[in-house]
Amino acid sequence: MALGLAAGVLGWTPFGYLSKGTAREGDHMAKQPQTIVITGASGGIGSELALAYAAPGRRLALLARNRHKLETLALRCSDAGAHVHLITMDVRDRLALRRTLKAFDDQYPVDVLIANAGITCGVAPSTGLEDPEEAHRLTEVNYTAAVEAAEAVLPGMRARNCGQIVFLSSLAGLRALPDMPSYSATKAAVAAYGAALRGQLRGTGIHVSVVFPGFVTSAMSQRHQGPKPLEISAVRASKKILKGIQRRRSVIAFPKILVGLIWLQKTFLIPRLSDWTMSWFPARIDPDPSYSAVPDPDQAHKTVKPQGAEGEANKKPASTMPAGF
Ligand SMILES: NC(=O)c1ccc[n+]([C@@H]2O[C@H](COP(=O)([O-])OP(=O)(O)OC[C@H]3O[C@@H](n4cnc5c(N)ncnc54)[C@H](OP(=O)(O)O)[C@@H]3O)[C@@H](O)[C@H]2O)c1
Repeated sequence: MALGLAAGVLGWTPFGYLSKGTAREGDHMAKQPQTIVITGASGGIGSELALAYAAPGRRLALLARNRHKLETLALRCSDAGAHVHLITMDVRDRLALRRTLKAFDDQYPVDVLIANAGITCGVAPSTGLEDPEEAHRLTEVNYTAAVEAAEAVLPGMRARNCGQIVFLSSLAGLRALPDMPSYSATKAAVAAYGAALRGQLRGTGIHVSVVFPGFVTSAMSQRHQGPKPLEISAVRASKKILKGIQRRRSVIAFPKILVGLIWLQKTFLIPRLSDWTMSWFPARIDPDPSYSAVPDPDQAHKTVKPQGAEGEANKKPASTMPAGF
């Protein structure tokens, strides 16, 4: 009780040493960012972040494979007054990703990059094994692409000595889910990369945030068949993420109850007991239709052209969007 009271007064949380960042970070709020790049913008969390940022004076670069979803989102963002660029590409084309984001940053200095694109897979109940192709794809999308995106904008941010890079990890990156080994590993990897980058950029004007969401309602979580304790909507999640980004939090982790339980488990339980508690949360992950052999008609998967971006959307139908940024 006394500990809880003291913790509340001091703003301490079980992951406080992570979530509050340095005193310097907490001391000042980020100035209003003008140019924001979001990868995986066509999905639940990415779309809600785009809508939350959409405002007059803002420039948004929205990146994903599904052109149709991006265009629908772009119209809503431009209705809110934002200037919107669409980048239809597969982040697995890592050289094109780097080239495109670098070119975008050269033209429109990026204030905030949100490396959000992500996919899941799990073990097959019959074999207890993951499909090796799916597992490899996970590393390409969840880890390699996030690093490529960050490295594309870093030279510009370093030259300007300002900017913020946000990585979407997961609570599964803090405590691995037994039925999703590769997903958990990629999320732990991206969190480790973010922490290393944060240390490397210490003392510069560039900030790094790693986001650890619990269950968030989206197409991804709908394929997660199993208990999803304390699931929240993508709108609520995006509000929490946005608040953390604005406050330049090093770590943005929620819901706090799960964060606390994970901390307790990692601190006090021997690994085997911890594994036993995790067995209460079995999951089966349904296949992602956007990667199925039979193409989803709703998807317009394209590999980016050499110059990268395919258009700019400001209340214009897709057919009239000019090429380039
Ligand atoms: N939902 C949750 O419960 C939860 C929990 C913890 C962490 N997260 C993390 O939060 C992030 C967003 O998840 P979400 O729930 O919003 O998932 P989602 O609705 O499935 O969205 C995933 C996004 O990633 C994009 N994407 C996937 N593969 C891509 C590729 N090869 N190239 C380009 N873009 C690609 C998708 O766009 P296209 O299909 O159009 O390419 C989509 O915009 C992910 O990193 C996820 O791991 C989610």
